[in-house]
Amino acid sequence: MIQLQNITKQVPDSNGNLDVLKSIDLSISSGEFLSIMGPSGSGKSTLLNILGLLDEPTSGQYLFEGTDVRKLSGRSLAQFRNSKIGFVFQSFMLIPRLSVRENIEVPMLYTRCGLKERKRRAEKALEQVGLIHKAKEPVINLSGGQKQKVAIARSIINEPDLLLADEPSGNLDAASKEDILRIFESLNQMGKTIVMVTHDPEVAQIGKRILTLKNGEWSATPAFAKTEVTG
Ligand SMILES: Nc1ncnc2c1ncn2[C@@H]1O[C@H](COP(=O)(O)OP(=O)(O)OP(=O)(O)O)[C@@H](O)[C@H]1O
Ligand SMILES: [Mg+2]
Repeated sequence: MIQLQNITKQVPDSNGNLDVLKSIDLSISSGEFLSIMGPSGSGKSTLLNILGLLDEPTSGQYLFEGTDVRKLSGRSLAQFRNSKIGFVFQSFMLIPRLSVRENIEVPMLYTRCGLKERKRRAEKALEQVGLIHKAKEPVINLSGGQKQKVAIARSIINEPDLLLADEPSGNLDAASKEDILRIFESLNQMGKTIVMVTHDPEVAQIGKRILTLKNGEWSATPAFAKTEVTG
């Protein structure tokens, strides 16, 4: 599904250039559940944002279902991203005063999706996260765990092939964390490909494969990982 080859990312800093990612290779098959771990500053979010077409690498190749996505730009890039990739962030990124339903419908505004189809998808997504009863509630009234469920519903609303999650349980208590992880697990069982970034070894364990970044490079996977893989 996804092939990254020799991906680098450099950003300017006070001493010249900082190598945030150094020659990253990565293949992801359809249906995988991949966890990416690593210390703060190791480049996890940068890599996830590149995977999600939110950021551009400095060099390297990125194929997504055979499409050379580095050649896309402007509207075609936005369309590709909106239809194929869903995002979940640590800080939810919801619009506080809009209802649950309105929030999850946002990504559909940029598609040619009719009213009936919108309704069908919204109901299906809310059912998948168990929040149908909160559809009309402004998200400002929800708990952290509920907000993250709304964010997950929004991430799947356009029925993307790939879900990207950056520390999705980072702001949640233990019970909500469990809930959120179970939802990701069930989405994966239904065929969604998932890439999740986390500091938390316990959270990483729900992935079927665990990779670790250190200083912008793949490093040997620590002993607690269930699959031993290096990049
Ligand atoms: N646009 C940018 N401009 C300057 N520096 C950047 C930029 N993007 C990332 N960096 C730097 O790149 C490094 C990696 O950042 P990144 O956010 O990918 O780390 P991370 O592994 O996600 O860390 P955390 O676990 O704290 O979220 C950091 O040193 C960061 O300061
Ligand atoms: Mg990060």
